[in-house]
Amino acid sequence: MTTAHPVTPLSFPAPRGACPFDPPPAYQRARREQPVTRVTLWDGSQCWMVTRHADVRVVLRDQRFSSDARRPGFPFVTDGRRALANESTSFIRLDDPEHARLRRMLTADFMIKKAEVLRPRVQRIVDDFLDRMVEHGAPADLVTEFALPIPSLVICLLLGVDYADHTYFQERSRIMLNNGSTADEIRQARDELTEYLGRLAQRKRREPDDGIISRLVARGELTDEEVASTGLLLLVAGHETTANMTSLSTLALLRDPAQLTRLRAEPALVKPAVEELLRFLTIVHFGLPRVATEDLEVGGQTIRAGEGVLCMLSAANRDEEVFEGADRLDIGRESRRHVAFGFGVHQCLGQPLARVELQIALETLLRRLPGLRLAVPYEDIRFRTDMAIYGVHELPVAW
Ligand code: HEM
Repeated sequence: MTTAHPVTPLSFPAPRGACPFDPPPAYQRARREQPVTRVTLWDGSQCWMVTRHADVRVVLRDQRFSSDARRPGFPFVTDGRRALANESTSFIRLDDPEHARLRRMLTADFMIKKAEVLRPRVQRIVDDFLDRMVEHGAPADLVTEFALPIPSLVICLLLGVDYADHTYFQERSRIMLNNGSTADEIRQARDELTEYLGRLAQRKRREPDDGIISRLVARGELTDEEVASTGLLLLVAGHETTANMTSLSTLALLRDPAQLTRLRAEPALVKPAVEELLRFLTIVHFGLPRVATEDLEVGGQTIRAGEGVLCMLSAANRDEEVFEGADRLDIGRESRRHVAFGFGVHQCLGQPLARVELQIALETLLRRLPGLRLAVPYEDIRFRTDMAIYGVHELPVAW
């Protein structure tokens, strides 16, 4: 069945509304009125936008919706991303069986059990960065002094990458995730990181350690190029996501004193609180791109082979059919059905690690700094609307 569509498709991405924590009102409206709808992208091309929780899961679960950016019709939300489509090889943009072959090499390293074993180590890292921040004194930028260095050091340790080079990774990761970056800038950042990781793979061949890169090399099943592109995916995916969740979650709690007081009074709520913050904030906010490989039906709408789809996790996570009072932050609610980590075969590999990092970072921050507050007026906070990962550019705090 095909339903009628507005004559002028929505222009994507739509601007956010008055509340910076809420998805753009246009996506919320689309979910209520036309949950599978046409949108126009930056280059005038069109694709489908899917906004309901149930429909987003249908698309992400069905591998006839491909993640392969080399297929015609794949939707690109920026020029830079389109220009690199044929050069991208990491498994997030591959379909099974290649995707499964590469992902399988890492599943043991990212199991829940493994992440739980890391807790004491992550706790020490969190305490160390907090000690340093407190020592420097208020005001401090929570992003650069706390939220970013934690996942950065953790992923470097796991990969067996030298943390002394973290500025090098962070700068290049940021370029790769910035929607404003040109194709040349992204290509250069990616090439430099790939070269670095390629050299590292060769070194690990000679001097193995217990890091992931070393183990990937030792398996002997991957080319140096595949090792480098896998390492690159982990470095980029592991840096900005957790960092932005940490700072944006802190801000959301500081703006909601009732929830903040509740979490301080009941620290055991940190696990559901992190799930709820993942749902409420949904930092992967530009939609997960897929392209249909056959004619398929989603939410009563026919999507033809070769047509692109953007799965809006942010709108799906505010779906009233699944989350009652969805626009309200409620750290005590059951929100584990959120799709902030995606769904289906590409669902976030690093989620157990991200959860451990977020739980420890938030619990420690609130426990150790009971007077935590913004050091600038809220209106001065700059949100990262231009990046693939939503967040704040800086978060000046005092305590
Ligand atoms: C995939 C979100 C942290 C590694 C994804 C996807 C989402 C996501 C939505 C699905 C992409 C798609 O289907 O196209 C997040 C969020 C994080 C986070 C919200 C933090 C709060 C991490 C961390 C790591 C990581 C810490 C690793 C260290 C990956 C990898 C994939 C992925 C490797 C690709 C999985 C595949 O294609 O099979 N992530 N992520 N992520 N994430 Fe995360």
